[in-house]
Amino acid sequence: MSNNKNNIEKIHQSPSEDYENSSKHYDKILNPFLNHIRKAVTDWIIVNQPKNILDIGCGTGKQISLLPNNINVIGVDSSPAMLKIADKQATGKCIEADAVNLPFQDNKFDLIISQFALHEKNMEAINSELKEVSRLLKPNGKFLIVDFDYPTKRTILSQILGFGIYLIEKNAGDEHFGNYKSWMGSGGLEKIISDSGWKIFERQLFYKGNIHFTIWKN
Ligand SMILES: C[S@@+](CC[C@H](N)C(=O)[O-])C[C@H]1O[C@@H](n2cnc3c(N)ncnc32)[C@H](O)[C@@H]1O
Repeated sequence: MSNNKNNIEKIHQSPSEDYENSSKHYDKILNPFLNHIRKAVTDWIIVNQPKNILDIGCGTGKQISLLPNNINVIGVDSSPAMLKIADKQATGKCIEADAVNLPFQDNKFDLIISQFALHEKNMEAINSELKEVSRLLKPNGKFLIVDFDYPTKRTILSQILGFGIYLIEKNAGDEHFGNYKSWMGSGGLEKIISDSGWKIFERQLFYKGNIHFTIWKN
């Protein structure tokens, strides 16, 4: 009995405690490296005009704060520390919830975003989240994922950048790093999501292909 309970807790458990200490420095350290990717996401949204957007694992709410005010967007995150910052920069738009059990009705969203929030979960949690995303998306809805993958062309620079990402992840805590290794070991973003039956129809590459910005349909 107790084993079962532990398993269930493991699926739902997020590595949010990792962010207790790093939340205050998160934007300061990472935004200089991520601003151009966040701008590409903002530009895609402005061009494609989805009506209702959900950002799962919205963190400090930085991406949401960059979207025009007339766009209807809500963020969810399981880390109170990250949400405290989101509260200030994405006023009133981010709530505490677990990605595998979200408090929204079926078919509610035109676009769901996951930016750097899948690679840090175990495969069971990823599969549960993908089911939740399918439930929440409208029939023609799209899933925008930005996360780590392998470069399509291996060059010295792409390998150096990939190693830089590896070192950052290695410093993010044992559980986080273990999940990152299993993410990359399973083939990275595009392999994992396409193996789950999703179809990719748009992609942009960043950091010599170590980071993929992808759009998917179920
Ligand atoms: C690397 S941060 C990315 C934050 C943000 N998307 C960004 O681009 O900066 C990953 C976020 O996912 C959140 N997270 C992890 N597991 C979660 C879960 N099960 N449900 C909701 N949020 C989760 C973490 O608390 C963290 O804020």
